Amino acid sequence: MRVLGIESSCDETAAAVVQDGSRLLSNVVHTQVDIHAKYGGVIPKVAARSHIETVLPVIEQALQDSNSTWDDIDAIGITYAPGLSGSLLVGATTAKTIAHIKQKPLYPIHHVQAHVYASFITEQNDHLSLLLPSSQPKFPLLALIVSGGHSQLVLFYSHEKFEILGETQDDAVGEAFDKVAKILGLPYPGGPSVSRAAELGDETAYKLPISKLDNPYNFSFSGLKTAVLRAVQKEVGVDYTFPSHELKELLNDVQRQNFAASFQTTAIETLVRPTLQAIDEYNPASLVIAGGVAANTKLREALQSRTDLELQYPPIQLCTDNAAMIATLTYYQAQHQPPVDPTSLDIVPSMSMSEIYN
Ligand code: KG4
Ligand code: ZN
Repeated sequence: MRVLGIESSCDETAAAVVQDGSRLLSNVVHTQVDIHAKYGGVIPKVAARSHIETVLPVIEQALQDSNSTWDDIDAIGITYAPGLSGSLLVGATTAKTIAHIKQKPLYPIHHVQAHVYASFITEQNDHLSLLLPSSQPKFPLLALIVSGGHSQLVLFYSHEKFEILGETQDDAVGEAFDKVAKILGLPYPGGPSVSRAAELGDETAYKLPISKLDNPYNFSFSGLKTAVLRAVQKEVGVDYTFPSHELKELLNDVQRQNFAASFQTTAIETLVRPTLQAIDEYNPASLVIAGGVAANTKLREALQSRTDLELQYPPIQLCTDNAAMIATLTYYQAQHQPPVDPTSLDIVPSMSMSEIYN
């Protein structure tokens, strides 16, 4: 089964073709990161406009790179939730129209669940040369899903059944990286720039809090972000009323690097502790880390060094938003769910994974 996946939930316009839920035939991602970098974050209207301009060329490219014609495509998978409404709408409208005109079965895909499925891609066409895992994860599968919009621990019993063990109660971890980068004056997106600055910093320079919640599998990052803000204000000698966007001018490079390292270490520990506890309690066969923050090598190392279970993760290109993960999940979803009528598919911008029927 050859699936075309389409993704446009935030600031990446992506299309990919995947064979039988494991072989990547093409992977095209048009990122808008340069457009949004000057604003320090994604501007929804600008994002939607860019998706309109690029979605069709990106799909054409994905077909061409995979040596497919429309006749070769057996199904289409489209991200319908969650994400920015304007962004989702462009991809969904495009997919609905194509599915209708080309008479292809259409599957609505949840973006956060799809992040986990990037780890099911183990083969690729020669032109791609990604560093892929050699085998697929096994069930029960514990997934730490960490992105710009979501942070959660999910136990998958099978492709059909999963349970959310815990999730963030406020900010997502990627969002915390992005916000801390802003305070420190590091470029957007904050994840890569904070981790680069952290390499040169002293992680013990500032003591930052790890949140404690009633459910041991839930996370919270908003207290950590505020603690960084207060510590920076204290360090540069201003009080809590001093505007956060002016702090960066008062920091020197050493302070910046030390804050980046102290924050990163604390954020990682906030994620690692509940994950290790879930491994002890549920004894999963596989441990997968997924989403944009899974690109963080310190997080991978911290987790792997404290469990015997082999940590599985996709190559960096498939950690951040892409359509290969959408096409892959589409294949597995199609094994147990019927396609939808293209005219009745609606986007759901703020739908949690807990609302997926399973
Ligand atoms: O999965 P993704 O591409 O988009 C969402 O679905 O949200 O994740 C983007 C997030 C951003 O917040 C970005 O700062 C973060 O992933 N990120 C990282 C790293 N690379 C990207 N966070 C920490 N360390 C990284 N190396
Ligand atoms: Zn994502």
